[in-house]
Amino acid sequence: MNRLLIFYSICIFICILISTAVSQLTFTNPIIDTLSADPCVLRVGDNYYLTISEKGETELTIYKSPILTSFRNAESKVAFVIPPESRDMWASEMHEVDGELYIYFTMSTNGDNHRMYVLKAENASNPMGNWSLPLRLLPDWDFAAIDGTIMRHNRQKYFVWTSGRIGTLAIYIAPMVNATLIARPIVLLRQPTQEWECGDGCVNEGPFFIYNRNVSYMIFSGSSTWDPGYALSQMSIESGKDPLDPLNWDSVEGPLFWRNDEEDVYNTGHAAFTVSPGNFYDNIIIMQVIERF
Ligand SMILES: *[C@@H]1O[C@H](CO)[C@@H](O)[C@H](O)[C@H]1NC(C)=O
Ligand SMILES: *[C@@H]1O[C@H](CO)[C@@H](O)[C@H](O)[C@H]1NC(C)=O
Ligand SMILES: *[C@@H]1O[C@H](CO)[C@@H](O)[C@H](O)[C@H]1NC(C)=O
Ligand SMILES: *[C@@H]1O[C@H](CO)[C@@H](O)[C@H](O)[C@H]1NC(C)=O
Repeated sequence: MNRLLIFYSICIFICILISTAVSQLTFTNPIIDTLSADPCVLRVGDNYYLTISEKGETELTIYKSPILTSFRNAESKVAFVIPPESRDMWASEMHEVDGELYIYFTMSTNGDNHRMYVLKAENASNPMGNWSLPLRLLPDWDFAAIDGTIMRHNRQKYFVWTSGRIGTLAIYIAPMVNATLIARPIVLLRQPTQEWECGDGCVNEGPFFIYNRNVSYMIFSGSSTWDPGYALSQMSIESGKDPLDPLNWDSVEGPLFWRNDEEDVYNTGHAAFTVSPGNFYDNIIIMQVIERF
């Protein structure tokens, strides 16, 4: 029954190409010329804002466009350049929280491999304006953390992310005090066990939330990003239930959105969602895929 969710989403879209040894001669990304992974788009006012990593994952760039399907020649703004000794600026997501705009992302520094950070917009009405310096999230939780996102449930905010704390990449959840402060407890929400999520290593990552009829849906990726079978699945929880108890969640058996060998489309992973102009459609999927020829 949960597969019906796919019909509530307008699954058109989108290709942000990562790297593909064979295909670069022929593949043309339909929406943007840059090569990057982990696309995320937020609609603010009358425009869409795409956040991605550029310059060898050292710069966090925002692209602005009134049209979701074209960021080519779009106005851009570098929100943050990582310090020289740092690397792996990954998976940035812009979110509106308590009337302000934030970008959550991952970065590795000299001492710490993959920790989460957040930037705040100086002016919440202008994502192309200046952004604050980064603030480390979970400063006293000393484990790798990537793909952070926000869940809204029962009028409470939760931070949901991926960590290799238990040795395999799994999804964690914790309540948020506010946009920059994550509270306790930190709960292991889901870890990969099924065949579809263990392609070239067991991985659960890239959580993103959509909401429909009092149910919160977490769309997430399973398997390695470099495995052609990288795919999306879903967990969901009804309003009123406590998301910090994993037993309150329902899971879909197997993947929900996966490779299409007939069309040569693979690695259908890391998705984000946004709304259509006028909020006519709540959930338009934005995702990375790879085509091979
Ligand atoms: C914030 O940005 C909006 C949209 O660009 C602009 O109209 C407004 O004047 C800005 N506010 C401040 C305080 O700069
Ligand atoms: C952003 O910061 C630069 C450098 O401080 C400043 O010149 C510019 O006016 C600022 N932009 C906005 C929109 O505040
Ligand atoms: C979050 O709460 C902490 C502790 O009260 C405070 O220091 C911080 O400024 C708050 N951040 C935001 C974005 O409100
Ligand atoms: C959602 O929950 C609220 C509060 O419990 C209830 O009033 C409303 O009817 C529910 N909506 C749907 C579509 O189930």
